[in-house]
Amino acid sequence: MELNILTLCYLIGSVTFILGLKMLSNPATARKGNLIAAAGMIIAILGTIFLYKDEAGNKLHNYGWIFGGIAIGGVIGTLAAKKVKMTAMPEMVSMFNGMGGACAALISIVEFNHLIKHPHLDQDGFTLYPPLSSLGGHGASLTGYIPATELVIIMAGLIIGSVSFAGSMIAWGKLNGTIKDFSFKGQHIINLVLLAAAIGLSIVIISKAGHFGVEANLSGNDFQTVTFNSHFPILIFYAVFALALLYGVFFVMPIGGADMPVVISILNSFTGVAAACGGFLYDNKVMLTGGILVGAAGTLLTILMCKAMNRSLANVLIGSFGGGAKAGPAGAKQQGAYKEITLSDAAVLMAYANKVMIVPGYGLAVAQAQHACHDLEKLLESKGVEVKYAIHPVAGRMPGHMNVLLAEADVSYEKLLEMEQANEEFPSTDVVLILGANDVVNPAAKTDPSSPIYGMPILDVELAKNVIVNKRSMKPGYAGIENELFFQKKTSMLFGDAKKVLQDLIGEIKNL
Ligand code: TAP
Repeated sequence: MELNILTLCYLIGSVTFILGLKMLSNPATARKGNLIAAAGMIIAILGTIFLYKDEAGNKLHNYGWIFGGIAIGGVIGTLAAKKVKMTAMPEMVSMFNGMGGACAALISIVEFNHLIKHPHLDQDGFTLYPPLSSLGGHGASLTGYIPATELVIIMAGLIIGSVSFAGSMIAWGKLNGTIKDFSFKGQHIINLVLLAAAIGLSIVIISKAGHFGVEANLSGNDFQTVTFNSHFPILIFYAVFALALLYGVFFVMPIGGADMPVVISILNSFTGVAAACGGFLYDNKVMLTGGILVGAAGTLLTILMCKAMNRSLANVLIGSFGGGAKAGPAGAKQQGAYKEITLSDAAVLMAYANKVMIVPGYGLAVAQAQHACHDLEKLLESKGVEVKYAIHPVAGRMPGHMNVLLAEADVSYEKLLEMEQANEEFPSTDVVLILGANDVVNPAAKTDPSSPIYGMPILDVELAKNVIVNKRSMKPGYAGIENELFFQKKTSMLFGDAKKVLQDLIGEIKNL
């Protein structure tokens, strides 16, 4: 009966994960989706703690350790999530993802040690029949086996989890500036050698699977410890662990800091797969479902990000983006002159427009100008101007960055247009206000085949009647390239920190 309730808990957990993930795809339902999946996770965890029984009917014990761990982790997680700044979100995701990878690797270490000390016994039903006493009392010699499948899963979980842990820690350090990019000639070859060595040594371990003589110390009608007569290559196991950690470090070290979101997404999918290995080992369906969902979602997100940047995964991993000809300040390429607009002119242009489209970018997040932006939107609307936001899929530095930022300022989801929708509306837009965005509005993506962003879908802002660009200087954005939009006839530059400019703009419009 209890087992059935546990199965039901797992079923509820799996269903809520899928539902939650589906709801995360829409900003309006994302928060609820997150809560639903978290509730399912709590049900699955509590079900395991209180209802799980092993084959011999033993329940979990060590409640002090279990709930102590949950309490410490829960408090740290809650505080970290409450305190984190929007711009530091990828950093936190990386750290938490690394913890998931570490857990998966630890499961493999614990289960490996358990398996080699307590192999499966060939004598089926050994604890019940024949009675142990008839097998010779204390210290019976039996035969046992270690299945290759279990070793494959353990080694896969160890390698993938360790790579994810070490890689995520490096990504975390790079994003918070404590670790600098590091690469040396031939690093990609060394990486391949490390990975090949880890896999090769794992094969050595897996090849040791099979039947062995076993010493069982019997106690009453049960056996307490069971040990192998033969030696198992424990050192090799820890060598694989060390190699995988090293590979994780070397894998992420050379990748440019700004490419970290893509790398974190890959590492995230690794953690999912490593957790799914744990699900296989424990025959725990909800762990398996959760791990597979994380693995699949991380992989899809990686593909989507690469597509939206028009780059191959190999290009991200080898890190050539932005490494090409960096544009200097304006005019380095004969672009002609750009023109500036004053605050009062910008205020008049926007206040008397029918429709204004705001294009948020990374600079808006840096300036923390989302609230000022929402204030401007409300003010313009009170003057009868229609205001919408054009959201590029990779605006900012992480998936959904702009959506989360604007949601924080209570901007209505209905006002957020996806790229295709926004591109349809630009021709009927009077003023486009670009706030700290650069690459996502760079026409070179359509016109210059030699540009590193050529082919990346962009927001066609130049289809609108007027374009106002707010940034602090003529410096390039993330891709390190010049933007010819800034030099076009329709475009006017409004220099300054986004928050300050928006506050001043609001003041000007109020004075009109
Ligand atoms: P960027 O191209 O990086 O441009 C941001 C602009 O904001 C900069 O040119 C900067 O110019 C300006 N800025 C910085 N601080 C500012 C402030 N306080 N006030 C006003 N402006 C400020 O950003 P984007 O257009 O959002 O494009 C995102 C880029 O990141 C794309 O190339 C994308 O491929 C890449 N990327 C995105 C993701 C995801 S998933 N979103 C992941 C990896 C990479 P100044 O210095 O002159 O002010």
